[in-house]
Amino acid sequence: MEPFRFHVFVCTQEKPSGILSCASRGSRALRDAVDREMQARGLGSDVQLTTCGCMGLCDEGPVMVVYPAGVWYRRVQPVDIPEIVEKHLRDGKPVERLVWKDASAMKAMSVEHGGQFRSAMAAREKAGTLADWLNEMIRGFMPSRCILTALELDLFTAVGDRATAEQIGTKINANARAAGVLLNALVALGLLEKSGDEYKNTPESARYFVQGSKDNHRNGLLHTANIWHRWSTLTDAVRRGTCVPIDHANTPEWTRNFIAGMHRNARERAPLVVKALGTAGVRRILDLGGGSGAYSIAFAQACPDVKCEILDLPEAVPLTAEYISRASVSAQIGICAGDILHDQFGSGYDIVMLNAICHMFSEEQNREIFRRAHEALAPNGRLAVQDFILNPDKTGPQHAALFSVNMLVGTEAGASYSEQEYTGWMKAAGFVEARRINLPGPSDLIVGQVN
Ligand SMILES: C[S@@+](CC[C@H](N)C(=O)[O-])C[C@H]1O[C@@H](n2cnc3c(N)ncnc32)[C@H](O)[C@@H]1O
Ligand code: FES
Repeated sequence: MEPFRFHVFVCTQEKPSGILSCASRGSRALRDAVDREMQARGLGSDVQLTTCGCMGLCDEGPVMVVYPAGVWYRRVQPVDIPEIVEKHLRDGKPVERLVWKDASAMKAMSVEHGGQFRSAMAAREKAGTLADWLNEMIRGFMPSRCILTALELDLFTAVGDRATAEQIGTKINANARAAGVLLNALVALGLLEKSGDEYKNTPESARYFVQGSKDNHRNGLLHTANIWHRWSTLTDAVRRGTCVPIDHANTPEWTRNFIAGMHRNARERAPLVVKALGTAGVRRILDLGGGSGAYSIAFAQACPDVKCEILDLPEAVPLTAEYISRASVSAQIGICAGDILHDQFGSGYDIVMLNAICHMFSEEQNREIFRRAHEALAPNGRLAVQDFILNPDKTGPQHAALFSVNMLVGTEAGASYSEQEYTGWMKAAGFVEARRINLPGPSDLIVGQVN
């Protein structure tokens, strides 16, 4: 039984450097083009598009096959796709000039290729060549650093509609030769396009990195650029057992980028947290380290009877006030400048929230915060901790383990923690029940209930 009229397989296999593959011949762009053309013609529900691994026909790649008839296309280019989609996938007539019909030649090539590939891999193995995946991981900072420098220099905005390296260098106050080197690398990374001497933004760069664009993420991403400087102290931090002070940290600009970076994630996650916790019977919420106020804002918008109080550091609260005022919920949200570790929490709350807070503190500090949160909650009140939660042995998930390193370089004693640690601290603080609520995405909730 065929659930689709056509099932298209596009080979996107990557191979070790120096070995030919469909991916090295641009098959990912091909896949994107098939998808785009299918959607444009309303074929999304009739045709299933699947990427697949090597079919042994790499010399003739990029290769794609259309089932159920088993029509094999070879050396396909993105310019061929509108014709294939229209004639074959819409009208049912294969594009003959691109179809490869010689089944015995295909089989012979596939067998020969399998042998060649196995011998090439055996030769690399014998020579002790560093595996590509290791090499890629080790050099992973290179693309990242190019993008972060481009963001720091506001290069994508300087590119504008189109400009030469010289014009861009002048705008960002940089050396034209060096700007050209960086611009060419950004073209190689697929973040700019080049024609003659001129560069222009790709649709994604124009959307996400250019000042004035509705979806500009530059300010939030500059927080990642700040973190990069902290990560470069990792070796020292591991030797010392704590973070190493760096220049330019915690300046007003750093704090603004930090809160913008937090807001980027928080505004997407806040509705999930509101849904998971619910608003029934909730009147007062304490949002410890509320940052941009995204979670309080989401609760206030979900329920006009809810009142929130945010406690955050004095340097953050003017920024918190800006976000809340922009969301037009100032009447429902109070802001207090203070320190979670030293200042009073008040009492009678239905929910105390700790979103992305516990990882900044040590186990002892968190135990104390949980104890004081328990005191601040009304009967049946809940403590809601949202964070990246580690497995019991703390080796995964990967994002949580890496985030723990982020806290090692960024705080005195912070870390990611496991579900067992959080629920244990809650029980020790007097919560009668502590349970995990999995959220879509990388962070989850641990909720403790007061008797
Ligand atoms: C990682 S951000 C999380 C912000 C927000 N809860 C969110 O999830 O978007 C940490 C927040 O805690 C605040 N913060 C850090 N240390 C604090 C302390 N000792 N007392 C109060 N707030 C603190 C920071 O200013 C920042 O707003
Ligand atoms: S990599 Fe695509 S057929 Fe071999």
